[in-house]
Amino acid sequence: MRRPPGQDGCVGVVGGGYVGLALAAYLVTSGRSVLLVEADAERRHALSRGEMPIYEAGVDSVLSRALREASLVVTGDLGLALDATRMVFITVGTPPGADDLPDLSAVALVVSELRTHAKPGTVVVLKSTVPPGTGRRIAEQLQGPPFRLPVVSCPEFLREGSALRDMHTAARQVIGGDDREAMARVATVVTAPGTPVIMTDTASAELIKYGSNSFLALKISFANELARFADEVGADIVPVVQGMGLDPRIGPEGLRAGLGFGGCCLPKDVRALVGAGGRHSTAFGTLEAALQVNAAQRALFTEEIRRELGGRLNGRRVAVLGLAFKPGTDDVREAPSLDVIRNLLGHGAELTAHDPCAIGKAAPLLPPHVRLTADPYDCLSGADAAAIVTEWPEYLRLDWDRARQVMRHPVLVDGRNCLDPGEIARRGFRYRAVGRPPAQAVCSADRPGAITAARAAPV
Ligand code: UDX
Repeated sequence: MRRPPGQDGCVGVVGGGYVGLALAAYLVTSGRSVLLVEADAERRHALSRGEMPIYEAGVDSVLSRALREASLVVTGDLGLALDATRMVFITVGTPPGADDLPDLSAVALVVSELRTHAKPGTVVVLKSTVPPGTGRRIAEQLQGPPFRLPVVSCPEFLREGSALRDMHTAARQVIGGDDREAMARVATVVTAPGTPVIMTDTASAELIKYGSNSFLALKISFANELARFADEVGADIVPVVQGMGLDPRIGPEGLRAGLGFGGCCLPKDVRALVGAGGRHSTAFGTLEAALQVNAAQRALFTEEIRRELGGRLNGRRVAVLGLAFKPGTDDVREAPSLDVIRNLLGHGAELTAHDPCAIGKAAPLLPPHVRLTADPYDCLSGADAAAIVTEWPEYLRLDWDRARQVMRHPVLVDGRNCLDPGEIARRGFRYRAVGRPPAQAVCSADRPGAITAARAAPV
């Protein structure tokens, strides 16, 4: 293995999932070498061959080159990593466990190995998302004798689909702990130039993570509730949130109305914080409401499709465009598409679904009678309505004239407000979005191609 000079030139990363692989990619691009410890043999062998278990822009090419240059070594032996490094990042998964508390068993396993194999002076860095208080408990377990291992909390804020970019352009770096020397070493290793660093205690660092994700979820759910009201008063949510977001106290991010938040982080972290609050004496009423609004968005969307199809879904053909929880990833964990598909099938609709990346991950989660296709036009062929569930750029670039020709009825329900209502209506579609006035081309002699916001008769 190539070992750059100096302290922490070589670091250990335990867990080859999203966070571990993105972190490894960041570390090798910043000139360090990485010993990546992956317990799952199948995943480990695939990684050693340069095959990434996730679709994440840029990570595969960086890690494949690092494997060739020996700045990345994949192993199943944590002991080997502990012999070669004095800084170990814990990036194993903390999936939802019983009553919404994160399952920390993978973290506990790593900690017990660290107690027996870690060398003096090794810094243990907690990057997995863990409830506040976890880092302090782990620090107590690693107090020694024979020696103390400093524990530093360094929560991750990367977004799927832009993980590597987010690491190089992080809005802030959060470092939590009580060992200043160890915290400074970690800050040096993970902080890109120019990134503000917050040095705090472990529990506060852990809470910054939960607070940030939960506040994003709150913003999204508020935008969705506002979108419902916009529908009732004839307003358009897109300029509304634009106007709100220009206020720096509010900010534009996280205000896109649509099908709500999904993925492996926001839903899990919001529920975990609500659960943690309940085990103390803090009722997170705001977050419980955000979860309710979020769940209802999928049902409202299904209802909108049913309404556009004259109140009947039974036996109607619906083309579902997008399975991933957001563009840029193949991740379908807690994806809105799964709920929308379940709802539509529940009403007796016939479904064909498309996604540019996530069909492989989605297929095992979907009933066999949902037809999956890699061709969006094949997906739209013979459809009574098309439903946009993930705002992939591919759908913005679709030839909607061709789409209209292959569909049975030109009805488009956009769950991500990603298309231009006027443009789509000009192409003869009846277009319905979230919190936006409906758009419909009026094919009349005196006003060919004119756009009307009035709701047209369903098909
Ligand atoms: C999120 C946090 O952004 C990231 O900082 C943290 O580290 C992990 O969790 P991620 O889950 O990748 O990242 O997705 P994000 O881009 O935040 O989107 C989350 C969900 O909210 C997606 O389903 C997305 O479609 C939805 N969303 C996001 C909206 O509906 N509206 C928005 O304005 C933004």
